[in-house]
Amino acid sequence: MSLVVVNEIKKIREIIREYKKQGKSIALVPTMGCLHNGHKSLMEKAHSIADITVASVFVNPIQFCPGEDYDKYPRTLEADKIVAQEAGVDIIFAPSVNEMYPNLQKFSDLTMVAPPYELTDIMCGKSRVGHFDGVETVVTKLFNIVQPDFACFGMKDIQQLFLIKKMVRDLNFPIEIIPCPLVREESGLALSSRNKYLSDEQKKSALSLSKALFSIRDLYKAGVKETKKLFDTGLTNLDKNVELEYLEFVGYNTFKPVENITETTICALAARVGGVRLIDNIVLEV
Ligand code: PAF
Repeated sequence: MSLVVVNEIKKIREIIREYKKQGKSIALVPTMGCLHNGHKSLMEKAHSIADITVASVFVNPIQFCPGEDYDKYPRTLEADKIVAQEAGVDIIFAPSVNEMYPNLQKFSDLTMVAPPYELTDIMCGKSRVGHFDGVETVVTKLFNIVQPDFACFGMKDIQQLFLIKKMVRDLNFPIEIIPCPLVREESGLALSSRNKYLSDEQKKSALSLSKALFSIRDLYKAGVKETKKLFDTGLTNLDKNVELEYLEFVGYNTFKPVENITETTICALAARVGGVRLIDNIVLEV
Protein backbone atom coordinates (compact mmCIF):
# COMPACT_ATOMS: atom_id res chain seq x y z
CA MET A 1 0.00 0.00 0.00
CA SER A 2 1.35 3.42 -0.80
CA LEU A 3 1.66 6.21 1.74
CA VAL A 4 -1.19 8.71 2.04
CA VAL A 5 -0.81 12.15 3.64
CA VAL A 6 -3.93 13.47 5.34
CA ASN A 7 -4.25 16.98 6.74
CA GLU A 8 -7.85 17.06 7.93
CA ILE A 9 -9.39 15.48 11.02
CA LYS A 10 -12.64 14.75 9.20
CA LYS A 11 -10.78 12.92 6.42
CA ILE A 12 -8.63 10.76 8.66
CA ARG A 13 -11.70 9.85 10.71
CA GLU A 14 -13.43 8.61 7.53
CA ILE A 15 -10.41 6.53 6.54
CA ILE A 16 -10.03 5.03 10.03
CA ARG A 17 -13.76 4.27 10.24
CA GLU A 18 -13.48 2.30 7.00
CA TYR A 19 -10.47 0.30 8.27
CA LYS A 20 -12.23 -0.43 11.56
CA LYS A 21 -15.27 -1.71 9.64
CA GLN A 22 -12.92 -4.16 7.92
CA GLY A 23 -11.70 -5.31 11.36
CA LYS A 24 -8.19 -3.89 10.87
CA SER A 25 -6.05 -2.92 13.86
CA ILE A 26 -4.41 0.50 13.97
CA ALA A 27 -1.07 1.59 15.46
CA LEU A 28 -0.19 5.25 15.94
CA VAL A 29 3.28 6.79 16.14
CA PRO A 30 2.94 10.40 17.30
CA THR A 31 5.87 12.58 16.15
CA MET A 32 6.79 16.18 15.54
CA GLY A 33 8.48 15.23 12.26
CA CYS A 34 12.13 15.74 11.31
CA LEU A 35 12.20 11.98 11.35
CA HIS A 36 15.39 10.04 12.09
CA ASN A 37 16.19 6.37 12.64
CA GLY A 38 14.79 6.53 16.18
CA HIS A 39 11.36 7.46 14.78
CA LYS A 40 11.83 4.91 12.02
CA SER A 41 12.29 2.14 14.60
CA LEU A 42 9.00 3.19 16.27
CA MET A 43 7.25 3.04 12.90
CA GLU A 44 8.74 -0.35 12.07
CA LYS A 45 7.54 -1.64 15.42
CA ALA A 46 4.06 -0.21 14.79
CA HIS A 47 4.01 -1.80 11.33
CA SER A 48 4.97 -5.18 12.82
CA ILE A 49 2.10 -5.24 15.34
CA ALA A 50 -0.87 -3.68 13.52
CA ASP A 51 -2.59 -3.89 10.15
CA ILE A 52 -2.48 -0.14 9.58
CA THR A 53 0.25 2.25 10.75
CA VAL A 54 -0.49 5.94 11.18
CA ALA A 55 2.29 8.43 11.97
CA SER A 56 1.32 11.92 13.02
CA VAL A 57 3.62 14.77 12.10
CA PHE A 58 2.69 17.86 14.05
CA VAL A 59 4.91 20.43 15.76
CA ASN A 60 2.68 21.02 18.75
CA PRO A 61 2.86 24.69 19.77
CA ILE A 62 1.35 24.17 23.23
CA GLN A 63 4.17 21.93 24.46
CA PHE A 64 6.85 24.57 23.83
CA CYS A 65 7.60 26.96 26.66
CA PRO A 66 8.26 30.66 26.09
CA GLY A 67 11.77 31.15 24.65
CA GLU A 68 12.00 27.57 23.31
CA ASP A 69 12.63 26.60 19.69
CA TYR A 70 9.02 26.33 18.40
CA ASP A 71 9.58 28.70 15.48
CA LYS A 72 12.85 27.19 14.35
CA TYR A 73 11.93 23.54 15.03
CA PRO A 74 12.82 21.75 11.74
CA ARG A 75 9.81 21.06 9.51
CA THR A 76 10.82 18.54 6.85
CA LEU A 77 7.65 16.85 5.61
CA GLU A 78 9.02 15.83 2.20
CA ALA A 79 11.99 14.00 3.78
CA ASP A 80 9.69 12.61 6.51
CA LYS A 81 7.49 10.99 3.86
CA ILE A 82 10.46 8.99 2.59
CA VAL A 83 11.41 7.74 6.07
CA ALA A 84 7.79 6.87 6.87
CA GLN A 85 7.29 5.04 3.58
CA GLU A 86 10.44 2.98 4.13
CA ALA A 87 9.23 2.06 7.62
CA GLY A 88 5.89 0.77 6.33
CA VAL A 89 3.68 3.68 7.41
CA ASP A 90 0.32 3.73 5.63
CA ILE A 91 -0.92 7.19 6.63
CA ILE A 92 0.83 10.36 7.71
CA PHE A 93 -1.52 12.63 9.59
CA ALA A 94 -0.08 16.14 9.27
CA PRO A 95 -2.67 18.67 10.42
CA SER A 96 -2.13 22.42 10.50
CA VAL A 97 -2.08 24.27 13.82
CA ASN A 98 -5.47 25.72 12.95
CA GLU A 99 -6.89 22.25 12.30
CA MET A 100 -5.77 21.03 15.74
CA TYR A 101 -6.39 24.25 17.69
CA PRO A 102 -8.92 26.46 15.88
CA ASN A 103 -8.98 28.82 18.88
CA LEU A 104 -5.34 28.89 19.87
CA GLN A 105 -5.28 32.67 20.22
CA LYS A 106 -7.63 32.12 23.17
CA PHE A 107 -5.19 29.68 24.78
CA SER A 108 -6.75 30.09 28.24
CA ASP A 109 -9.98 28.71 26.76
CA LEU A 110 -8.45 25.39 25.75
CA THR A 111 -9.37 22.27 27.73
CA MET A 112 -6.08 20.73 28.83
CA VAL A 113 -5.05 17.31 30.11
CA ALA A 114 -2.53 17.68 32.91
CA PRO A 115 -0.39 15.07 34.67
CA PRO A 116 -0.02 15.23 38.47
CA TYR A 117 2.24 18.00 39.70
CA GLU A 118 4.52 15.72 41.72
CA LEU A 119 5.43 13.78 38.54
CA THR A 120 6.20 16.92 36.56
CA ASP A 121 8.04 18.92 39.19
CA ILE A 122 11.09 16.74 38.48
CA MET A 123 13.47 16.21 35.56
CA CYS A 124 12.27 17.78 32.27
CA GLY A 125 9.01 19.02 33.76
CA LYS A 126 10.84 21.17 36.30
CA SER A 127 12.49 23.43 33.75
CA ARG A 128 9.82 23.05 31.06
CA VAL A 129 6.84 24.18 33.09
CA GLY A 130 3.57 23.24 31.35
CA HIS A 131 5.37 21.13 28.72
CA PHE A 132 3.76 17.86 29.74
CA ASP A 133 0.30 19.46 29.87
CA GLY A 134 0.85 20.35 26.21
CA VAL A 135 2.08 16.83 25.42
CA GLU A 136 -0.81 15.06 27.18
CA THR A 137 -3.34 17.37 25.58
CA VAL A 138 -2.11 16.80 22.03
CA VAL A 139 -1.65 13.06 22.57
CA THR A 140 -5.21 12.84 23.92
CA LYS A 141 -6.46 14.67 20.83
CA LEU A 142 -4.46 12.36 18.54
CA PHE A 143 -5.79 9.30 20.36
CA ASN A 144 -9.36 10.58 19.96
CA ILE A 145 -8.84 11.42 16.30
CA VAL A 146 -6.98 8.25 15.21
CA GLN A 147 -8.48 5.81 17.77
CA PRO A 148 -5.51 3.45 17.62
CA ASP A 149 -5.28 0.04 19.26
CA PHE A 150 -1.56 0.60 19.88
CA ALA A 151 0.62 3.68 20.23
CA CYS A 152 4.42 3.54 20.09
CA PHE A 153 6.58 5.92 22.15
CA GLY A 154 10.35 6.06 22.40
CA MET A 155 12.22 5.48 25.65
CA LYS A 156 14.44 8.51 25.00
CA ASP A 157 11.62 10.73 26.27
CA ILE A 158 11.39 8.54 29.34
CA GLN A 159 9.39 10.95 31.51
CA GLN A 160 6.94 11.48 28.64
CA LEU A 161 6.56 7.71 28.23
CA PHE A 162 5.91 7.24 31.97
CA LEU A 163 3.30 10.02 32.01
CA ILE A 164 1.53 8.78 28.87
CA LYS A 165 1.32 5.24 30.28
CA LYS A 166 -0.19 6.69 33.46
CA MET A 167 -2.60 8.91 31.53
CA VAL A 168 -3.83 5.92 29.51
CA ARG A 169 -4.45 3.97 32.73
CA ASP A 170 -6.00 6.88 34.63
CA LEU A 171 -8.30 7.98 31.79
CA ASN A 172 -9.15 4.46 30.54
CA PHE A 173 -8.00 4.85 26.95
CA PRO A 174 -8.47 1.45 25.25
CA ILE A 175 -4.94 1.68 23.82
CA GLU A 176 -1.83 -0.40 24.45
CA ILE A 177 1.25 1.75 24.85
CA ILE A 178 4.33 0.16 23.31
CA PRO A 179 7.64 1.44 24.73
CA CYS A 180 10.41 1.32 22.12
CA PRO A 181 14.17 1.36 22.85
CA LEU A 182 16.23 4.52 22.56
CA VAL A 183 18.34 4.52 19.38
CA ARG A 184 21.94 5.80 19.34
CA GLU A 185 24.44 6.76 16.69
CA GLU A 186 27.43 4.43 16.56
CA SER A 187 29.28 7.10 18.56
CA GLY A 188 26.80 6.66 21.42
CA LEU A 189 24.94 9.96 20.90
CA ALA A 190 21.19 9.47 21.36
CA LEU A 191 19.33 10.28 18.14
CA SER A 192 17.32 13.48 18.34
CA SER A 193 15.81 15.91 15.86
CA ARG A 194 17.68 18.62 17.78
CA ASN A 195 21.09 17.06 16.94
CA LYS A 196 20.68 18.96 13.66
CA TYR A 197 21.40 22.20 15.52
CA LEU A 198 24.85 21.00 16.72
CA SER A 199 28.10 22.05 15.06
CA ASP A 200 30.83 19.36 14.72
CA GLU A 201 32.57 20.80 17.78
CA GLN A 202 29.37 20.82 19.83
CA LYS A 203 28.64 17.26 18.73
CA LYS A 204 31.94 16.19 20.27
CA SER A 205 30.90 17.77 23.58
CA ALA A 206 27.44 16.20 23.29
CA LEU A 207 29.06 12.78 23.07
CA SER A 208 30.10 13.12 26.69
CA LEU A 209 26.42 12.81 27.72
CA SER A 210 26.22 9.16 26.71
CA LYS A 211 29.80 8.67 27.91
CA ALA A 212 28.75 9.90 31.36
CA LEU A 213 25.75 7.57 31.39
CA PHE A 214 27.84 4.60 30.25
CA SER A 215 30.41 5.30 32.99
CA ILE A 216 27.55 5.20 35.50
CA ARG A 217 26.32 1.91 34.05
CA ASP A 218 29.82 0.41 34.24
CA LEU A 219 30.25 1.43 37.88
CA TYR A 220 26.79 0.12 38.72
CA LYS A 221 27.63 -3.19 37.04
CA ALA A 222 30.82 -3.29 39.12
CA GLY A 223 28.63 -3.31 42.24
CA VAL A 224 28.17 0.35 43.26
CA LYS A 225 24.53 0.93 44.22
CA GLU A 226 24.61 4.38 45.89
CA THR A 227 23.36 6.92 43.41
CA LYS A 228 25.45 9.70 45.01
CA LYS A 229 28.63 7.85 43.95
CA LEU A 230 27.20 7.07 40.52
CA PHE A 231 26.22 10.72 40.11
CA ASP A 232 29.78 11.91 40.89
CA THR A 233 31.25 9.55 38.30
CA GLY A 234 28.81 10.76 35.68
CA LEU A 235 29.73 14.35 36.42
CA THR A 236 33.46 13.76 35.96
CA ASN A 237 32.82 12.39 32.47
CA LEU A 238 30.94 15.44 31.20
CA ASP A 239 32.74 17.75 28.81
CA LYS A 240 33.44 21.27 30.09
CA ASN A 241 31.15 22.75 27.41
CA VAL A 242 28.17 20.82 28.70
CA GLU A 243 25.75 22.79 30.91
CA LEU A 244 24.04 20.12 32.98
CA GLU A 245 20.38 20.76 33.80
CA TYR A 246 19.81 17.55 35.78
CA LEU A 247 21.18 14.07 36.29
CA GLU A 248 18.65 12.07 38.27
CA PHE A 249 17.94 8.53 39.39
CA VAL A 250 14.28 7.51 39.60
CA GLY A 251 12.47 4.19 39.92
CA TYR A 252 11.44 2.74 36.55
CA ASN A 253 7.93 1.99 37.85
CA THR A 254 7.49 4.90 40.28
CA PHE A 255 9.48 7.87 39.03
CA LYS A 256 10.40 8.53 42.67
CA PRO A 257 14.02 9.45 43.49
CA VAL A 258 16.28 6.49 44.26
CA GLU A 259 19.22 6.71 46.69
CA ASN A 260 20.27 3.07 46.74
CA ILE A 261 19.44 0.95 43.76
CA THR A 262 17.24 -1.93 44.86
CA GLU A 263 14.69 -1.59 42.06
CA THR A 264 15.13 -1.09 38.31
CA THR A 265 16.16 2.54 38.03
CA ILE A 266 16.31 5.12 35.28
CA CYS A 267 19.33 7.36 35.22
CA ALA A 268 18.32 10.35 33.10
CA LEU A 269 19.91 13.64 32.22
CA ALA A 270 19.22 16.85 30.36
CA ALA A 271 21.91 19.30 29.36
CA ARG A 272 22.61 22.16 27.01
CA VAL A 273 25.44 22.10 24.53
CA GLY A 274 25.88 25.45 22.78
CA GLY A 275 22.33 26.33 23.78
CA VAL A 276 20.89 23.10 22.34
CA ARG A 277 18.90 21.15 24.93
CA LEU A 278 19.53 17.39 24.79
CA ILE A 279 18.22 14.51 26.86
CA ASP A 280 19.43 10.95 27.34
CA ASN A 281 18.98 8.07 29.77
CA ILE A 282 19.91 4.52 30.62
CA VAL A 283 18.02 1.86 32.54
CA LEU A 284 19.89 0.20 35.42
CA GLU A 285 18.28 -3.21 35.79
CA VAL A 286 18.15 -5.01 39.12
O1 PAF B 1 7.79 13.04 21.53
C1 PAF B 1 7.34 13.87 20.72
O2 PAF B 1 7.81 14.04 19.61
C2 PAF B 1 6.14 14.73 21.15
O3 PAF B 1 6.22 15.09 22.48
C3 PAF B 1 4.79 14.07 20.84
C4 PAF B 1 4.57 12.80 21.64
C5 PAF B 1 4.70 13.75 19.36
C6 PAF B 1 3.64 15.03 21.18
O4 PAF B 1 3.72 16.21 20.43
